[in-house]
Amino acid sequence: MIDASIGARRFPKPIPFGWFSIGRERDLPAGVRDGDDVHAFQAVGRELVAWHDGGAYRVADAFCPHLGAHLGVGGRVDDGCIVCPFHEWTFDGSGANASIPYAERTNAKAQLRMYPTDARDGHVRFWYHPDPVMPPAWEIPTLIDEAMVHCGSAEWTVRSAWQEMAENSIDMAHFVSIHGSAEMGEVGSVDGDGPIRKVVNITKYTTAQGVIDGQLKVEMYGPGTSVTRFELFGKINLLSTTTPIDDQHCIIRMDFFHGGDDTSASISEPFAAEVERQFEQDVPIWENKRFVESPALAPNEKPITDFRRWASQFYA
Ligand code: FES
Ligand SMILES: [Fe+2]
Repeated sequence: MIDASIGARRFPKPIPFGWFSIGRERDLPAGVRDGDDVHAFQAVGRELVAWHDGGAYRVADAFCPHLGAHLGVGGRVDDGCIVCPFHEWTFDGSGANASIPYAERTNAKAQLRMYPTDARDGHVRFWYHPDPVMPPAWEIPTLIDEAMVHCGSAEWTVRSAWQEMAENSIDMAHFVSIHGSAEMGEVGSVDGDGPIRKVVNITKYTTAQGVIDGQLKVEMYGPGTSVTRFELFGKINLLSTTTPIDDQHCIIRMDFFHGGDDTSASISEPFAAEVERQFEQDVPIWENKRFVESPALAPNEKPITDFRRWASQFYA
């Protein structure tokens, strides 16, 4: 029997800051979308709640500043305010105490910690930074063109950290050894030192006509969202979100979209199946590896060093 504490903290960095998905809007219960119910979830090492106040989704710490009840267990939404189940104090969309049923005045000290939110491309996101006063350091634009057709979803909880998983996209050698690619691809171009990074990978595809070069464009919008744009035999976009549950576990959600034409539609299912197959091939590596701070790299693995330098900006 292996001591469970050995290697338990395999990824030594803290939870990064950034925009993280709480999930797809369509997956939230109808009562939450309608502004009646509270959605409770765990992310960024915290207990959180989300609700809709009639104007926007709100995300807050789950524990009531009065006497600590969990707002997501028996709580409800009334007129846009979240209502605590314990003594029915209410809090508005800014987290301020809006009413106390048995007092004339509200309590200014009773302030919920709120997280900025944004709903886009089917996901509800919140901004997390360990320092509650740090405003969002970047925005995520709409990434999926309206004309594209949603054609599949997948979701996993993985015992790994975002950085370990994201590093895979520029780890060209593993595509051969783990995923069975015919030849090692290469990183074609990298654009962006700030929170948004765009990489073009040159990948080799085995076809009836032989091995041909394809381009895979990977855009990363901080640690929580990436989109992979594939255009070769048709047009497919893969929107992928990573939400840290704590510093050792993440939820990955993928959504596939095709270009709307027949060719794109016809490759969408095998494409999604292949991406999911490859993801699941990586999981046992991710869940059992440890982060090597100063890795021994081959001469053509410099993109790994570059990626790590980029990733380091997301730790406070
Ligand atoms: S603990 Fe929330 S109102 Fe008392
Ligand atoms: Fe992989």
